[in-house]
Amino acid sequence: MSKFKALGNGTRQPDTSNLTPSHHKFNQPQTSIKMSDGKKPEVNANLIEQLLKKLAMGEELTEKQRKDMKDYKFWKTQPVAKFDEKIDHEGPIDKPKTPADIPDTPYPMLKEFEWVTMDLDQDEQLSEVHEFLHANYVEDKDSTFRFAYSPEFFEWALKPPGWKKEWHVGVRAKASKKLVAFISAIPAKLRVRSKELQTVEINFLVVHKQLRNKRLAPVLIKEITRRVNKHDIWQALYTAGVVLPSPVTTCRYTHRPLNWPKLYDIGFSGLRPGETKASTVAKYTIGSTTKVAGLRPMKLEDVDEVFELFEKFHERYDIVQKFTKPEFTHWMLGDAQQQKLDIKDKIIVSYVVENPETHKITDFLSFYILPFSVLEDSKYDTLNAAYLFYYATDADFGKGDRFSEEATSALTKRLESLVGDGLVLAKNMDMDVFNALTSQDNVLFLDDLKFGLGDGFLNLYLFNYMTFPIKGGLQENNEFDLVNRSGVGVVML
Ligand SMILES: CC(C)(COP(=O)(O)OP(=O)(O)OC[C@H]1O[C@@H](n2cnc3c(N)ncnc32)[C@H](O)[C@@H]1OP(=O)(O)O)[C@@H](O)C(=O)NCCC(=O)NCCS
Repeated sequence: MSKFKALGNGTRQPDTSNLTPSHHKFNQPQTSIKMSDGKKPEVNANLIEQLLKKLAMGEELTEKQRKDMKDYKFWKTQPVAKFDEKIDHEGPIDKPKTPADIPDTPYPMLKEFEWVTMDLDQDEQLSEVHEFLHANYVEDKDSTFRFAYSPEFFEWALKPPGWKKEWHVGVRAKASKKLVAFISAIPAKLRVRSKELQTVEINFLVVHKQLRNKRLAPVLIKEITRRVNKHDIWQALYTAGVVLPSPVTTCRYTHRPLNWPKLYDIGFSGLRPGETKASTVAKYTIGSTTKVAGLRPMKLEDVDEVFELFEKFHERYDIVQKFTKPEFTHWMLGDAQQQKLDIKDKIIVSYVVENPETHKITDFLSFYILPFSVLEDSKYDTLNAAYLFYYATDADFGKGDRFSEEATSALTKRLESLVGDGLVLAKNMDMDVFNALTSQDNVLFLDDLKFGLGDGFLNLYLFNYMTFPIKGGLQENNEFDLVNRSGVGVVML
């Protein structure tokens, strides 16, 4: 799941991370919720890549480096690509199985604990999951910020069309009945290059703070795999800040301050050398009115047209989610209750651009709202963050290859205006920061719209599916890759 931290002096530095991190460091949550302070990240996803390059160039690894690449006691037993795997084809890793080959009963659990299926249709259980994650979910590495998902967010994230109760898996302490661990899956059809796969997205893996490092996470992963396999689904998509064998791609977080003084006060953003607070505030100032003619909130009636535009736009990426129309409606507009809310109360915000003359929808933009709890700050308890979600535009249609000069220039211009207006909309909703990854075509506008590099990376993984690497919008030195951009079209919450 996604995690990050944001900017200090904002200078991009080539990453020359040392090549000998301890294995221990790999298994620290690499959460980073602040902007990068420009220092070298302790560990980053490119590290394994660097080790692989050394190997490819025929260099010898030290004993420690070899251990770093091999010592995944759990993951090395799973159908995932090894770090040094020579990939010569794309496809499933395990031999085909049927649900009948899979045990009917749950994996053995430590004797003090028991498996439970959480019923998120029951408000009490939904609140319980919410409170558990509120207290135990992803924090940045300094424990300054923690994701603050709301019950409404879970309604949206965990109950898309086709959701299954048994894929909301909990573990309770037998004696107290307290929830101590959780993991979830939701159905998602993917296209990976030319092949379509029925998969699940695994998310919200969490173990109670006091039960960490007891090997509970592997049991949760095995149990959700069993429950998913029982439905004849054999592949999964998941993301993590930590490096595991083996990322299909790595993206980086970027952050666009909207309320810089607050970000500075709570330690999310720093001051660049040579800049003053006043000059920084001036730099990040944006107006309160949008500029794109015809921009308006997306309505239910727009779904057919936007869906068509979206599907066409998404053909360009190597990995995308293939939504059905009801799924598309769910993800872009939320459930019936969400749809009724005022924009300022929504967790998923979608806009379209309707050409004022032709009334054709030419663009679509969405972002979701996910605040952070600010831990141990007396002045603020919440950091309001918007995350870029999906977009689509016809700006480069008919202009040849996605990477042609004409297509690139048209797309860059349109995305700058569209996402630029997204910043205004988010600012008007009282958001303090707007976050985006280096996926999709984002690198085209990040610099111009003053997104700063975060200190967090997001690795994307496929379970039981071998695939050639996909571009994540980053060069080897972690600079934006404006030449190749990214092949990642799917966005995971
Ligand atoms: C992530 C979390 C559940 C891992 O639990 P833990 O108690 O630290 O680790 P355990 O002893 O149970 O298990 C360790 C194994 O899980 C793997 N692991 C750790 N984090 C993982 C992740 N995010 N996804 C998949 N596997 C992970 C480790 O690599 C290790 O396997 P290995 O021996 O093959 O390397 C726990 O740290 C947590 O709740 N963190 C806060 C929430 C969070 O970061 N969730 C993940 C979001 S992606």
